[in-house]
Amino acid sequence: MPFIRPALLALAVLLAAAAAAHPAGPSAAERAIDYRHSVYHVINWNVHKLGDAVDGKVPYDKEAFALQAARVAMLAPLLPEGFPEGSYVKGKTAAKPEIWTHRAEFDELMKKLAAKSAALADVAKSGELDKAKAAFGELTQVCKSCHDKFKAKDD
Ligand code: HEC
Repeated sequence: MPFIRPALLALAVLLAAAAAAHPAGPSAAERAIDYRHSVYHVINWNVHKLGDAVDGKVPYDKEAFALQAARVAMLAPLLPEGFPEGSYVKGKTAAKPEIWTHRAEFDELMKKLAAKSAALADVAKSGELDKAKAAFGELTQVCKSCHDKFKAKDD
């Protein structure tokens, strides 16, 4: 079949060119890293605003504070699925490999984060700044304890 071989060769060349033009996208691990970074960015935006109000850097606006607290409470439970098994990629993540060898401890801190952010959102509805300050302090303490243990410093 003299005509088929050149045709197959041409097809192979075309397919190779198409593959080169569309390199395989990010790996599953890279997508997980991207996902968790995105969720952290949105949480961080809101936590900073809450912190500014708590520190008196901006006037306390009860409505805005309650909204930001509610956002954090909504987002915190989205974090754990951003840390699937095998999503440590050296150089692309500040997550320490210990997360996957101490998973129960990590998950416990995540649960605490969800609980403390829900508590803050609840208190924020009351509009009592003093109570909100205490609840905010408890929340950021959870961020810190997990970062101290499971997040690399140089990031
Ligand atoms: C249970 C553990 C845990 C808790 C709780 C936690 N973090 Fe993190 N955080 C991490 C880890 C691990 C990383 C590194 C993620 C990565 O680079 O893949 C991280 C990364 C981040 C980043 C950087 C994201 C980036 O793009 O590099 C920010 C900002 C952040 N966290 C904010 C917070 C704030 C604010 C809180 C509390 C409201 C919090 N985190 C609570 C574990 C935690």
